[in-house]
Amino acid sequence: MKKILLLLVAGAALVVAHGEEVRDGILLQTKSTTMAFRQEGGRWLVSHYGEKIPTLRDVQTLAWRPRYLGENHLGYRLPVTYATYGDTGVTAGLNKHGGLAVQHADGTLSTYLRAVKAETVADAPGTTHLVLTLKDEVYPFYVTQHFRAIESCDVVETWVEIKNDEPGAVRLTRMASFALGFPTLGDEFHVQHQPGQWGGESQLVETTLERGETVDFGSRGGVRDAWGNNASVMLSIGGKATETTGRVFGGVLCWSGMWGITVYRDQVDGIEICAGADTSAGAYVLDAGRSIKLPKFAFTYSAAGKGQISRNVHKWAREWQLPNGKALRPILLNSWEGAYFTFTEQTLHDMMDGVKTMGGELFVLDDGWFGRGKYARDEKNQATVGLGDWTINPAKLPNGLVGLSHAAKQRGLDFGFWVEPEMVCRRSELFEAHPDWVIGERTRKTNFGRAKSQTVLDYANPAVRENIYNQLNALYKDVPLLRYVKWDANVDMMNVGSPYLDAAHQANFAFDYTMGVYDLLARLRTAYPNVDIQACASGGGRCDYGFLKYADEFWTSDDTDARERVFIQWGASQFYPACTMAAHVTAVPNHQTGRVLPLKYRFDVAMSGRMGFELHPKDLSADDLAFAQQAVTDYKRIRPTVQQGDLYRLVSPYDGNYASLMYVNEAKTHAVVFVWGLVRSVSRDYPSPIRLQGLDPAKAYRVKEINRVPKARTHIPMNDKVAGGAALQAMGLQVALRSDYDSAVLELTAE
Ligand code: DGJ
Repeated sequence: MKKILLLLVAGAALVVAHGEEVRDGILLQTKSTTMAFRQEGGRWLVSHYGEKIPTLRDVQTLAWRPRYLGENHLGYRLPVTYATYGDTGVTAGLNKHGGLAVQHADGTLSTYLRAVKAETVADAPGTTHLVLTLKDEVYPFYVTQHFRAIESCDVVETWVEIKNDEPGAVRLTRMASFALGFPTLGDEFHVQHQPGQWGGESQLVETTLERGETVDFGSRGGVRDAWGNNASVMLSIGGKATETTGRVFGGVLCWSGMWGITVYRDQVDGIEICAGADTSAGAYVLDAGRSIKLPKFAFTYSAAGKGQISRNVHKWAREWQLPNGKALRPILLNSWEGAYFTFTEQTLHDMMDGVKTMGGELFVLDDGWFGRGKYARDEKNQATVGLGDWTINPAKLPNGLVGLSHAAKQRGLDFGFWVEPEMVCRRSELFEAHPDWVIGERTRKTNFGRAKSQTVLDYANPAVRENIYNQLNALYKDVPLLRYVKWDANVDMMNVGSPYLDAAHQANFAFDYTMGVYDLLARLRTAYPNVDIQACASGGGRCDYGFLKYADEFWTSDDTDARERVFIQWGASQFYPACTMAAHVTAVPNHQTGRVLPLKYRFDVAMSGRMGFELHPKDLSADDLAFAQQAVTDYKRIRPTVQQGDLYRLVSPYDGNYASLMYVNEAKTHAVVFVWGLVRSVSRDYPSPIRLQGLDPAKAYRVKEINRVPKARTHIPMNDKVAGGAALQAMGLQVALRSDYDSAVLELTAE
């Protein structure tokens, strides 16, 4: 019998102080939640995850005892910390489910993990880091499971390391990062997730999870992983949660490759959530003596609805995950929709002048600046040539990126450019020199995407990474004023397999590819920590927290129509804070939908994220320019609250003809409310008073409409008047939306 471990952390210490007996258990405490573990029968189980409980004694006393009602009855599923395939004993029979499925070196298919050691290890202040070492009952096959609880934001990060000390390779048929069985939680469950596509990312869907059902969703491919769905999930427990009510579990998988999330409710009401890299196309082969670290999963709990889940994850992102999460993001103009491939240096200088006049801070040159001679990327060849050749096209830009960066500097702007480092065009110098550097299968012809011109480089191959690093490093070095890089990715894996990996390891490709991309990102980020990166993949295809460990923001969607963005940004906001969400004001008619929306509306929607522009400023009338200048001034003032504040979603666009959300700064002295009308109807849906949230009930706030069209009537009868936080939350604000796509932005300042 193993020695019983006495683990002393926060709550457990309290128990000891009271002289209670502590068996082998531990409480991971955050501000408002507790995750409680206990050891039973050699397994680590979760006794509780949810509202805060101060003592281990209470958790141990009330812990759900799966066998108490007998086998095959309600709750007969052990809430193990890492469920494995074949572990009979977890359920009343073979555990067919489980996030880890291993074929051991001798061919055995089941894995029975047993507790070896449990310890808390030193980590950053404000965290408690529990490490569980588990080993298969029979084989020298080790799993180290980490749970790192972050006090201030109620988030627990978890990840897994697997070590194979067996005499031969093992095959990981499933290797989820998170495979948690929950103690019986409730009798009604709803799963919210975000299917999407190009131009329509992050569309919210909520589905009921009945007994015996599984909700299973995942990435579409291994590059644009957030297309198809987003690597995140919310589970409402015991009834459908709203923004402000209900018990909710929320989690994000930090992975930019192929992934899958499964929420499983078994026939006896056991819940198991698995999230991890997707191995459904083939087992990952882990050679003898090797180990693998699986991606992180970060999760949180709220007893007060989905809004709190979002705020917890946003705070975690800003404080723990993003590279410079506390920094304010610049207002930029990206050249894409204003110029596409058709530009000269003069065009770009004009754009710089324009964005400077509007009050912007950064100019970003998008696609079309690289490749030489026959491979020059220009208006003639458009997107069909040049990827992989990361050198300036001198015919188009004689003074190069350096010249452009100086031109920006002269105007008081920072400078950035676009790259697509994971891709190569078949018509490029790189492909000519290294046709074997692209992903594919030995016996099949290579498929090409984006006008049949480009494919994906084999990032499992270190030589490929080295080549691209050297090319990018030369660019970064050449342009000392570089402040920002837009990292794009415009095709999926249309061929599976790596010419670099041998036959036995082909199925490792998808995972190794993503690790290879991270390797390059990490090198660049270490060498150039102050060059921001935007994660783009034909829009929001790289909206995930794996990439956002290295990137500061993502391009939310190629669909820049403000009406569409109300929905897309609403979906993205479930897990991604405003500072990560690039939102650009573009021209009308909109290039994706043809819709003509008022300039004010376009600004009002963009101002709720990381605002920027994607148009040629010369196309703006004098009135529009004046409006833009005033909007930029307003945005600069509200930027700290929008980008760093707490988000409260007030009225969902899915529920009617308008939407509203607000941000409140940490001190609760400043707030910004956005109200966006959709298509109006006289007989319904004029906004009823919009009840605010997140304010200090005891404070008085002056409410001022900002970003107003000159001479237009205000949207609120109490403009520039003062009201108490309690009243603003209880009675709400009356807002008059007078036509289709009318909108208002209100600034609240505590007096
Ligand atoms: C797709 C991106 O989403 C766009 O913003 C733009 O950068 C193009 N690629 C350029 O090819």
